[in-house]
Amino acid sequence: MTVAAPTREALAIHGGTPVRSMLLPYGRQTIDDDDVQAVVETLRSDWLTTGPKVGEFEEAFAAWVGARYAVSFSNGTAALHGAAFAVGIASGDEAITSPLTFAATANCILYQGGTPVFADVAPDTLNIDPECIASLVTSRTKALLPVDYAGHPADLDRVLEIAGDHGLTVIEDACHALGAEYRGRRVGSISHMTVFSFHPVKHLTTGEGGMVTTDDPKFADTLRKFRNHGISSNARDRQREAQYHYEMVLLGFNYRLTDIGCALGLRQLPKLESNLARRREIATKYTAALREIPGIIVPSVRDNVLPAWHLYPIRLDLSRLSAGRDEIFRAFRAENIGVNVHYIPVHLYPYYRERFGYRGGEFPVAENAYQSLISLPMFHGMNDDDVQDVLEAVGKVVSYFAR
Ligand SMILES: Cc1ncc(COP(=O)(O)O)c(C=O)c1O
Repeated sequence: MTVAAPTREALAIHGGTPVRSMLLPYGRQTIDDDDVQAVVETLRSDWLTTGPKVGEFEEAFAAWVGARYAVSFSNGTAALHGAAFAVGIASGDEAITSPLTFAATANCILYQGGTPVFADVAPDTLNIDPECIASLVTSRTKALLPVDYAGHPADLDRVLEIAGDHGLTVIEDACHALGAEYRGRRVGSISHMTVFSFHPVKHLTTGEGGMVTTDDPKFADTLRKFRNHGISSNARDRQREAQYHYEMVLLGFNYRLTDIGCALGLRQLPKLESNLARRREIATKYTAALREIPGIIVPSVRDNVLPAWHLYPIRLDLSRLSAGRDEIFRAFRAENIGVNVHYIPVHLYPYYRERFGYRGGEFPVAENAYQSLISLPMFHGMNDDDVQDVLEAVGKVVSYFAR
């Protein structure tokens, strides 16, 4: 696959013909008849929630990633909240995370009354830089929350080493990284707790949904209670045992994933390998075609890592282009290529600026990257024509703005 030869063909944003007649989204789910069947069967069953599909999905998921326990949640944000609770983050505590992530990663620390402390990212992977973490650990630090940005695992050995030196817990935000591998091990089997999301743009979907994996029985037990109001037994067990009595032992929430969602997740799980393979194939095609284009920097992949490619974020070399990211972004959208930007750094949101006094300039690597980032469409249901359309649009737009 190739990018279009340099041309001054009129961009759609200037009234030219768009590369596609319909929008190609940046991500979307794939649901086949088999998935529909699984959901319909569950809808006809006795249990729509707190039923047998929940445990079945959790067991299958734990086995797939290689963890002892998996605890499902109603979404990835709730799963992050559960993990922050299980660590015991409370008022006065700090937890260190990346500014280049979705708001939920930092918000889960706030939910618990803690303070998110941001550490800048490494320039190649845009994952949290362990050397920055090391300089920020204080006696108040409780946890480290690395994010596997775009599906590329963070520098987990170093992060775990720093955690070990200071007695900290690592909550890995792997919402982008289901199926990623780090030194031959699957993400989900490495950190103290690993959090996943099953939002429709992810590798596997349950509609909304999330999961925490861990090898620690205490964390698993707390997570199960936390997602069920802090109650120590579930409704199905009580029905089976013909008794009504239960205890509420901690202040939890209703963060349960339904049997409908779990049935869908269970049916999607065996397709995960092929979904990942397709994403890797698309990433390989993108990288081969885009790496030689002046003005584009393709994502880098470190040795010993197999990314899951939730996103394919390119960076623009703005010194070689006559327009900024936002104008180029609009030009892609006019071509009906559904690009996106991941992410506006969290500390630059009005809420964080007002509450913590951030002004910009605190995390230069993340902030500079943000100025030039554009995520190209990336989902396993893309066909080769879709990929070719993206490459054609990149060639058309970038050559137009080349200096
Ligand atoms: C890095 C990251 N963390 C957390 C979340 C939250 O997951 P959810 O949307 O399932 O609540 C997302 C969602 O996209 C994410 O990308």
